[in-house]
Amino acid sequence: MMNANLQSLLQEMTLDEKIAQLMQLATPFFEGSKDEGQITGPLASMKVSEANIQNTGSVLGASGGAKEAISIQAAHLKKNRLRIPLLFMADVIHGYKTIFPVPLAIGCSWDLDGAQESAEIAAKEAAASGVHVTFAPMVDLVRDPRWGRVMESTGEDPFLNSEFARAFVRGFQGNDLKNNKEAVAACVKHFAAYGAAEGGRDYNTVNMSERQLRESYLPAYQAALDEGCEMVMTAFNTVDGIPATGNQALMRGLLRGEWQFDGVLISDWGAVKELIPHGVAEDEKEAALKAIQAGVDIEMMTSCYIDHLKELVLSGKVDEALIDEAVLRILNLKDKLGLFENPYRGADEALEKELVLSDGHRKASRELAAKSSVLLKNNGVLPIQKDKKLAVIGPFAQSGDILGPWSFLGSKEKAVQLYDGLKAKTDPSLLTTALGCDIESGTEEQINEALRTAEDADLIILALGEASEMSGEAGCRADIRLPEVQLELAAKVKLLGKPVVAVLFNGRPLDLHGIWDEADAILEAWYPGTEGGTAIADLLFGDKNPSGKLTMSFPYSAGQVPVYYNHFNTGRPKGAPDAQERYVSQYLDIPNEPLLPFGYGLSYTTFDYAEAKLSDAVLTPSKPISLSVQISNTGSYPGEEVVQLYIRDVSGEIVRPLKELKGFKKIALNPGEKAAVTFDITEEQLRYYHSDLSFKSDAGKFIAYVGTNSHDCSALPFELTTD
Ligand code: BGC
Repeated sequence: MMNANLQSLLQEMTLDEKIAQLMQLATPFFEGSKDEGQITGPLASMKVSEANIQNTGSVLGASGGAKEAISIQAAHLKKNRLRIPLLFMADVIHGYKTIFPVPLAIGCSWDLDGAQESAEIAAKEAAASGVHVTFAPMVDLVRDPRWGRVMESTGEDPFLNSEFARAFVRGFQGNDLKNNKEAVAACVKHFAAYGAAEGGRDYNTVNMSERQLRESYLPAYQAALDEGCEMVMTAFNTVDGIPATGNQALMRGLLRGEWQFDGVLISDWGAVKELIPHGVAEDEKEAALKAIQAGVDIEMMTSCYIDHLKELVLSGKVDEALIDEAVLRILNLKDKLGLFENPYRGADEALEKELVLSDGHRKASRELAAKSSVLLKNNGVLPIQKDKKLAVIGPFAQSGDILGPWSFLGSKEKAVQLYDGLKAKTDPSLLTTALGCDIESGTEEQINEALRTAEDADLIILALGEASEMSGEAGCRADIRLPEVQLELAAKVKLLGKPVVAVLFNGRPLDLHGIWDEADAILEAWYPGTEGGTAIADLLFGDKNPSGKLTMSFPYSAGQVPVYYNHFNTGRPKGAPDAQERYVSQYLDIPNEPLLPFGYGLSYTTFDYAEAKLSDAVLTPSKPISLSVQISNTGSYPGEEVVQLYIRDVSGEIVRPLKELKGFKKIALNPGEKAAVTFDITEEQLRYYHSDLSFKSDAGKFIAYVGTNSHDCSALPFELTTD
């Protein structure tokens, strides 16, 4: 349908029909169409009339597969006067049924192609199951591991998050949404700055300057939109005192005005009505008024629009043009997805069966899981020789809870557990296992049994972590150590005097006290997804070499949080040559530095960086320079290294971070092999937001850093001058 057709369709719609397009309802509302459905629980309090259900614009949480989607759509089209198809939306975050590692883990792969492929596969499975839109990617920049949702983000760096945002959008949407029935529309979220919730407590206030918002938090959303992302979701938090969902400056001013975004803007779950408890709306009517004025097109899961917009239009408080433009955007998205021609789009029961959890999809998940795990420590016990007797101990030894939050349709039963992954690669008679304790509780007897199990072993694998509900939405923790009982288990296992390898399954950077000294090696597996056990066994036995690098700092302790690599120097930096002993910016009881910095991760091999060189010490806007460095694999395993480029602007109008990631390259080298890596450095990379919000560079001194992580790198000074 052409745009002119959409305009004429809009002309035919009554005000009621238009307003119902702005409503999103969960699948149970449509079960009435099958004559047996009942709406219960919180949904029942939304008193939506049958007429409004018939006119609804979109469905949330389509999870019943192709059959359900086809039946809901067919019944809807019969009842809907103008035969406007429904849009089916769902949270397909890191896989549909084949679950990939959580996004924070995918970030640690630094593998954009792998990220794109994971989204492509998720889209294929979801589209065949009747989904049209996924509520992903989540690109909120995160600096506080107490916040449970850090696992949904790719980490603490604006540049890296932007690259991943693009990769995910490319993967989900492909480049021809209309004709490619295996793609889904993406919805970038949560706009804006949800990752900066104070104290790491979910739904909490966000307070920051517009300059900081633009410099650190906005780039990844903008990158997703530049890549063609079709939708945006609002955030639950305030932005400069006004909740995002009712924030005109943010939505109409910045998103729709400055960035010219003309796609669909959806509220987060219940966020329109939450304008009331936030304290910017007295009642649902005012909440509806503020949200529509801010430019929110679809209200998710509350009924302020459907109950009050008509009255607001008839009383002249809301211009009908606002409703029309929102409806038109929604119709336009339906048109872009080809739904007017084929309302069932990719939904196909046979294809769904063929694709979901197919061998190829599982293989891709396994590859990415291996690339996403990060080797945090290794005093030589890894990789493990296959003839060693192993005891696999801990609550994650035989657990399918390795998919992580936001994997509703993933089956824990179909996930490969660590013990099974190891068993498939070694003589099973060499393996023993015991629980040791549960995630947060345990008995002496359980621990003693584990110690007995480990008595004969040459090496102990401790499989520890957080249950998946301990992170994700509303999964915040103030103490981010492993649960006490698991630390007790680790301490007792250590007393056996055998080599201990800890494998961690968790959704956030942890405070590693209680395991760092107790283990000889630590592999951060995050939530690795459906093929977790196989991928980790590949790494532990050295069939694959770890190459992941942290994209979020691991704090020394929660008392440092937020701790991130791209911070400012302060006027009294610790460790400066002329620094006093006491009156410097420091803690008296712990270091300033995180335990493990951004970009950090070990390998079974060693990489040597030869002296790096700049092509010129002076850069001008018309004359970029380049930095080159030769890297050699000096160890005995083939391996991959993520070579990282950082830049510091020594003196700016605004204080500049000590380092900012500006480029990275992942290279694969065989033992003895060398490769030259070159990065261009351009004036554009040196621009930043000034006090008047102009985005430009300042002539002067800079330092380029190149190395294996944000801490261990060599410095090369250069200068920017005008042409
Ligand atoms: C979350 C969103 C999610 C939505 C729909 C909300 O609670 O914040 O990220 O997309 O629910 O499930």
